[in-house]
Amino acid sequence: MIIFHLSTECYPVAKVGGLADVVGALPKYQNKIKGIDAKVVMPWYNKSFIYDHEFDIVFDGFIHQGPTMLQVQVMKEKTDVLGFELYLVKIPGLLDRENPYGYQDESFQFLAFQHGVLHWLSAMQIRPDVLHCHDYHTGLVPFMIEHCPEFSFLKGVKTVGTIHNGEYQGVMGWNMISYMPAFDTWKWGLLDWEGLINPLACMIKCSHAFTAVSQGYLEELFISFRGLEGLVRNEYQKAYGIINGIDTEVWNPETDPMLDYNFSQENAIEQKKKNKEKLCGEYQLNPELPLFAFIGRFATEKGADLMPDVVWRGIQQTQGMFNIMVLGSGNAYIENRLRELDHIYTNFAVDLGYKEYLSHKIYASADFLLMPSRVEPCGLNQMYSMRYGTVPIVRYTGGLKDTVQDISTGGAGLNFTYPGVDDVIHAIQRAINIYRQKELMENLILSNMKFDFSWEKSAEKYIDLYKK
Ligand code: ADP
Ligand code: GLC
Repeated sequence: MIIFHLSTECYPVAKVGGLADVVGALPKYQNKIKGIDAKVVMPWYNKSFIYDHEFDIVFDGFIHQGPTMLQVQVMKEKTDVLGFELYLVKIPGLLDRENPYGYQDESFQFLAFQHGVLHWLSAMQIRPDVLHCHDYHTGLVPFMIEHCPEFSFLKGVKTVGTIHNGEYQGVMGWNMISYMPAFDTWKWGLLDWEGLINPLACMIKCSHAFTAVSQGYLEELFISFRGLEGLVRNEYQKAYGIINGIDTEVWNPETDPMLDYNFSQENAIEQKKKNKEKLCGEYQLNPELPLFAFIGRFATEKGADLMPDVVWRGIQQTQGMFNIMVLGSGNAYIENRLRELDHIYTNFAVDLGYKEYLSHKIYASADFLLMPSRVEPCGLNQMYSMRYGTVPIVRYTGGLKDTVQDISTGGAGLNFTYPGVDDVIHAIQRAINIYRQKELMENLILSNMKFDFSWEKSAEKYIDLYKK
């Protein structure tokens, strides 16, 4: 069975968040299953991975996007170093940028990517068994292969759409229609949602099946989905919740080259302490105090806006009984407030930016990881932290409620219900109390490390779905 994953991110080629981790790992694990050949297709960005690896040009052609003619080149990484065939679609002047997102002409960018991929597959007569589309950026593909004559060679290919984040739907005005490849116009309703072109809604309507990245999140989508709840309810028969796994080869505390001190179950307590001392030394934090961490995009879905108040009120209310470290970037107001607090409180450190190596060090060094997410389709941070023996403190939502249970109900983490500053501080106080009970804390570290979040099970579930 040949599967093409279509995505705008893939670790380690280009990563903004968890989408990259999933697309960098799922196909690798799928390829371990007999008879499966999973590949990844993504845009060509101006990233170091491109220069550190060799590529063959496997296609060179042109597409028309409205009045513009665009060159489309497809390059294949020569050695399949990632555990799958990697194809990069280069569209000079449109896709060959520094980053996947953040440009004014994003709608053109993703339309061209989808058009380019389907043009290449049709022209080269490559007909996979499944096209697996990730998020709205590739959400028009199921529509295009059925209703655009240009891709009639692909008509009937099975499509699966995965919703990693329903907050982003890629909505654009109908004026963009002239940039779509030509389609049967009487099918326009499949593209439309409330008077706009909505690629995520289109993916839900047109794919043979769609998935959410956890069962918990799927259930929430039926109730609250930025206007698409009625649509998912109508399409419930082809909706599936499949929890993400983590790449346990990349995220292995025994071998992770980004850690100062590697560790296993046998020496986790001592080695984690050494990692913590090193990190605290670098950020002038007191290693005797419990260390809380937050890693992530500064977006309201992540509850990042709560963090400045959690820091100053939390430190005041507990008279400085804990340390807290934040790694992330995004909303400028949050960044500025955290920067200010960094100057005021010695118990607090912030590192603004995207630093893969530092995230690994923090997962290995912190005692507790905070995730006050308002929306969390799956969340990978809690799983990484658990694998590295760090206790997750999560808001009970989406994938977080599927992966982290509270110690009061037999789990190894802490839950809270409401995404508010007081609730986070209350959870921090509970955690400080646990930290002071040495034996309990050590048991939690070891129990967390034992959880199995590997991809094997979920990779199988996707294959079962494709077969269905
Ligand atoms: P999302 O995809 O919504 O951002 P996930 O929990 O699925 O959330 O995945 C986030 C991924 O991005 C994790 O691998 C996390 O370690 C990483 N990450 C987030 N922010 C940063 C940062 N500032 N530096 C390094 N890694 C980060
Ligand atoms: C999205 C979600 C996150 C999920 C990730 C990978 O970015 O916000 O919760 O873990 O996709 O599926």
